[in-house]
Amino acid sequence: MVDPKDKTPENRVSPPSRQYPETAAQLRADPPTTGHSWDGIEEFDNPMPRWWVWIFILTIIWAVGYWIAMPAWPGIQSATSGVLGYSSRANVATEISEFEARNEEFFVQLVSTDLDEIRENDELHRFAVNAGDSVFRAQCSQCHGTGGAGVQASGFPNLLDDDWLWGGTMDDIVTTVTWGIRNEDYPDARYSVMPAFGQDGLLDETEIDQVVNHVLSLSGADHDSDLAAAGEEVYLNNCASCHMDDGSGDYFIGAPALNNQVWLYGGTPEAIRHSVYYSRFGVMPGFETRLREAEIRAVAAYVHQLGGGQ
Ligand code: HEC
Ligand code: HEC
Repeated sequence: MVDPKDKTPENRVSPPSRQYPETAAQLRADPPTTGHSWDGIEEFDNPMPRWWVWIFILTIIWAVGYWIAMPAWPGIQSATSGVLGYSSRANVATEISEFEARNEEFFVQLVSTDLDEIRENDELHRFAVNAGDSVFRAQCSQCHGTGGAGVQASGFPNLLDDDWLWGGTMDDIVTTVTWGIRNEDYPDARYSVMPAFGQDGLLDETEIDQVVNHVLSLSGADHDSDLAAAGEEVYLNNCASCHMDDGSGDYFIGAPALNNQVWLYGGTPEAIRHSVYYSRFGVMPGFETRLREAEIRAVAAYVHQLGGGQ
């Protein structure tokens, strides 16, 4: 038995002796094997193909060149910068600033273009609606809903329909968004108060029942015709100055139309009674200091095209 630890020349463990055939033809016909054999299957000992070896060497040369030319080795603060000075971070920064410069042009154009003409410039309008969409999601959706459908229980109006409280032209919407509604922050905020007819004793219970039924009849909802007929006079005396004789409302003071099926606070007899008894006082913040003028115009263009712009 040969002791493998004993490295004396006489005892050296030597690889199995191999015989190399001389000619290429011989080599192909009878390639040398490594001497390994598993169940009679032998492993050939062919040299690597030349092309493969060359590509391997080229990749090594390429890698060395790459280390030198490009940022490669990580350090503690940053990586080696490479002689070409390439930086993906700097590229992103320039792309962003190019992008912003292009946007800035549009923002400038938005402010200088007449509000009603924004829609006529396709490219500008598309930009305004996109920019307005993101302003809306950030600033308006918590009240008006992501899609602009509003929340009736809270008196946040639906902006998708063509029923407007304060008007639906670009100009109206810009004014509403700039100064807000019934807030204390801006003296220019849109303002109006409906009297609390029940709470303040302006109408008695019977008159309230009558006028509620009259309002129901104006909108074509189920109602008691006798009460509604009696309520017409109460309505004309107390309500028509703001809501108009036919209930069509008044943009000038934000008095909602009462002759359709669109309700800000609800069209059930209970909701209408609540509106008449206690009145309502919907508040919207103004955005004059929170948004740039261009952003206000953009969000107005967005709201305007949601469905009901005038
Ligand atoms: C804090 C809640 C709140 C936020 C935020 C808010 N709104 Fe309003 N908005 C209201 C309320 C409440 C009204 C209805 C006020 C009323 O009763 O007259 C309203 C009314 C409006 C109107 C008038 C609708 C009409 O029929 O005339 C427009 C337009 C409008 N909002 C757009 C916006 C836009 C655009 C933004 C974001 C820049 C925004 N609002 C942010 C609560 C909000
Ligand atoms: C001074 C003007 C004014 C008068 C007078 C007035 N209203 Fe109003 N009314 C308003 C305004 C403004 C609102 C909207 C309040 C808000 O947006 O918060 C409103 C809201 C309502 C609503 C809620 C509508 C909805 O869509 O949910 C009803 C109902 C209503 N009024 C009925 C009446 C009736 C009935 C009378 C008469 C007894 C009356 N109003 C008198 C200004 C007036």
